[in-house]
Amino acid sequence: MTALTGKTALVTGASRGIGRSIAERLAREGALVAVHYGSNHAAAKETVAAIHEAGGEAFPLHVPLGVENDVDTLFVGLEEGLNGRPLDILVNNAAVIDYDATIEKATPELYERVFAVNVRAPLFITQRALALMPDGGRIINVSSGVTWFATPEIVYAMTKGALNVFSRSLAHSLGRRNITVNTVSPGITETDMNEWLRGNPETVRQVATLISLGRHGQPADVADVVAFFASPDARWITGQVLDVNGGLLLGAPVQQ
Ligand SMILES: NC(=O)c1ccc[n+]([C@@H]2O[C@H](COP(=O)([O-])OP(=O)(O)OC[C@H]3O[C@@H](n4cnc5c(N)ncnc54)[C@H](OP(=O)(O)O)[C@@H]3O)[C@@H](O)[C@H]2O)c1
Repeated sequence: MTALTGKTALVTGASRGIGRSIAERLAREGALVAVHYGSNHAAAKETVAAIHEAGGEAFPLHVPLGVENDVDTLFVGLEEGLNGRPLDILVNNAAVIDYDATIEKATPELYERVFAVNVRAPLFITQRALALMPDGGRIINVSSGVTWFATPEIVYAMTKGALNVFSRSLAHSLGRRNITVNTVSPGITETDMNEWLRGNPETVRQVATLISLGRHGQPADVADVVAFFASPDARWITGQVLDVNGGLLLGAPVQQ
């Protein structure tokens, strides 16, 4: 018996990166996982196959977010996959960053697109998920350290600020249902979102000088913390933001 035996979970953006690692970890803990993704069929297939090979249960859920009827479509597929079971755990992880959405180059279209995926989708997915979620459920939102350190990608940072505010108010609203809502805020983590880290040892070394623990993150570093918030051990924690970043910008840079 593992921590999440008999539970179900929806992880958005689970085809790659941090979402994939979260899906694999929750499945390892015994949950049936809906592996949601937007476009990368091959990656989603790989995630589901990896879960099955490890003895877990999962199904793919292909729904691009940020388009008309996205949430309706998602719930049709989700309910089909759950086959009458409730939804115990929701992880709002899918997000996009647009490196052009700076103060100089942001356009209303870029703004709408990034907010649609990073803020509108989690809000309305959560709204719908609550009808399927029993009391005692878990909601974990994946935010970012850009809510407290400055970055040129200002629109992306604004979306993550909105997600933090959403999480706090949601936690208070859902307390009486014993549903916890927490936010995990990754630091610099090696995924496709941070392609600039790959094959670039000098950049990796410079990034490491900014992190007390002396290295950038891997998806599993974040996934393990999400699994904690989803577990019974986190039953009396709600409304919190946890930075999972190895001690990013805790003090002066440390030469490696
Ligand atoms: N990596 C970091 O350093 C870092 C730091 C702080 C916070 N975060 C946050 O961590 C979360 C995961 O980031 P990541 O680095 O793992 O990202 P990633 O490697 O780029 O993966 C993004 C995932 O989201 C899905 N996705 C993106 N746009 C979508 C859309 N419009 N509709 C549906 N699905 C969509 C992708 O699916 P498809 O490819 O199939 O479309 C993919 O599964 C995000 O919330 C991100 O903001 C990451």
